[in-house]
Amino acid sequence: MSFVVRHILPWIKVVLSQALGLGCLFLARDYLAGNAIISLLLVGVTASLAGRVLGLSVYWIPIQLLLPFALVYSNVIPAWLYLTGFVLCALVFWNSATGQVPLYLTNTKTWAAIQALAKEAGAKTFIDLGSGSGGGVVFLARALPDLQVTGVETAPLVYLMSKLRVAIFAPANATIRYRNIWQEDLGGYDLVYCFLSPVPMPEMYRKARSEMRPGTLFVSNSFTVPGHPPDRTIDVADGRKTRLHVWKM
Ligand SMILES: C[S@@+](CC[C@H](N)C(=O)[O-])C[C@H]1O[C@@H](n2cnc3c(N)ncnc32)[C@H](O)[C@@H]1O
Repeated sequence: MSFVVRHILPWIKVVLSQALGLGCLFLARDYLAGNAIISLLLVGVTASLAGRVLGLSVYWIPIQLLLPFALVYSNVIPAWLYLTGFVLCALVFWNSATGQVPLYLTNTKTWAAIQALAKEAGAKTFIDLGSGSGGGVVFLARALPDLQVTGVETAPLVYLMSKLRVAIFAPANATIRYRNIWQEDLGGYDLVYCFLSPVPMPEMYRKARSEMRPGTLFVSNSFTVPGHPPDRTIDVADGRKTRLHVWKM
């Protein structure tokens, strides 16, 4: 059931909202003077709005906008372009479908707050679970030369980019490894950081509790753990009002 809700239901909503877009196109056809681009835009914009009303997240808006163009111009767009787009998306958003963790990045103000926390705690070892493009690993390794900074990541393209970034821009105390977050032993870290999604948080919290040493810190960007209030929450003065939830093991 949850597979249907996660993977099929959104596409049913896309079909319904595109149908609504076609309905609007039908009603407005006399005003559009046969302009194909405006007509397809009307369908896409209407579908995007309808999709939002039906509960689709903002990530669906580009898909809703492009879909009418892709369908109408399918005979002139080469098939390999779709395949390339799909493969690139898969290599970047590798963990979205299976782990429900997409790629979005921690901002610099938040990394600065984590730097302050690591310094305050006297942390010697740090890990970013799902280190994305490696920005945090580079930032912390540069800011805190005595901190051993590790990032683990499994999205292939994201991993390769971050590996390259760390090799070029980070000092020797930074490491990126191709490793699943669930296989990493958290016992060796003084500060464990994650920015995942609500779905894996209960399991990740259990893992942290069972593996981390007493006194070490588990930090989650934005996502809490139902039934386990954090020991401390740090409000970051950034545009998205980031909250860092901190549990002392
Ligand atoms: C929301 S991003 C956060 C990126 C980075 N930590 C930051 O804060 O800027 C989550 C990252 O975790 C990675 N990820 C998700 N599940 C993973 C897993 N099981 N093993 C390794 N990496 C994973 C994703 O590929 C993605 O790059």
